[in-house]
Amino acid sequence: MSNPSEAELIHMFKGIPFTTRSSPELLRSLDTFDAREDDVLLVSYPKSGTHWLAGVITKLYNTQVTLTSPIEFGDISKLEELSKLSSKRIIPTHLDYNMLPPNFKNKKCKMIYISRNPKDTAVSMYHYYRDNPNLPTIDTWTAFFDLFLKGDVVCGSWFDHFLSWEEHENDKNILFLFYEDMKKDLPKVVKDMSLFLGLNISDDDIQDICKKSSFSEMKSDTEKENSNPSHTVCALTSNRNLIFRKGTVGDWKNHFTPKQNQRFEEIFNEKMKLSKM
Ligand code: A3P
Repeated sequence: MSNPSEAELIHMFKGIPFTTRSSPELLRSLDTFDAREDDVLLVSYPKSGTHWLAGVITKLYNTQVTLTSPIEFGDISKLEELSKLSSKRIIPTHLDYNMLPPNFKNKKCKMIYISRNPKDTAVSMYHYYRDNPNLPTIDTWTAFFDLFLKGDVVCGSWFDHFLSWEEHENDKNILFLFYEDMKKDLPKVVKDMSLFLGLNISDDDIQDICKKSSFSEMKSDTEKENSNPSHTVCALTSNRNLIFRKGTVGDWKNHFTPKQNQRFEEIFNEKMKLSKM
């Protein structure tokens, strides 16, 4: 059987490529989504550490919370499914700020945005494209590198996504986190998250949460969970086994040629000239 064509896998919505796992009808209806004041959003560009963040956050609560699938994943029945949940909702999304349902903004819901060095994000996404049957076929790293820089990948340009959120970095209801900071000092980031969410967590509990959220623990938990692989926080796959690849900082150095690095830096400096990053 031949691979599905790009048109069968990808469609454009408001100029951004989405997989066909996000129906146009659902995407259109997000503008009227009914947010609740206590909803918490986990926001990321794909491959920035969303599952890691989700793994931590669900361990922070000692009350009943539901980690939903991404808000943009599925068809129109998604809205009813989310409205039926009686517990506090933790809702992941890869949407950029401009596409976020306005109700989340009006109600000042708490949002955590996780970002990662775009070079490592690009490499992680390249492997994800190669392993994930829901994404178009990619022949080489060089081909993917060009697509990534052009923003011709699912969820569009990393730069546009980051900048749309960075504009709101001083909003009190938005917490900015970096993957690299989580690698460097997870307990500190977890403490910051708990304060932001208004949760009182002891230092011992923080240590315990960090231990259970290490790459090796999360990867092996996933392998054990194989019988129920349908719970990802990524709109691009339901297969958790595709998520835990290497979990390191700096893997880009194993992929970028010096010329690619130079080109990336030039484009980064140009696109991010107004950014504080
Ligand atoms: P790599 O492909 O570089 O290994 P997302 O959850 O947004 O899809 O991001 C996936 C990336 O986060 C993958 O990066 C994955 O290995 C990494 N990751 C997932 N859990 C992690 C953890 N507990 N510690 C460090 N990295 C983790």
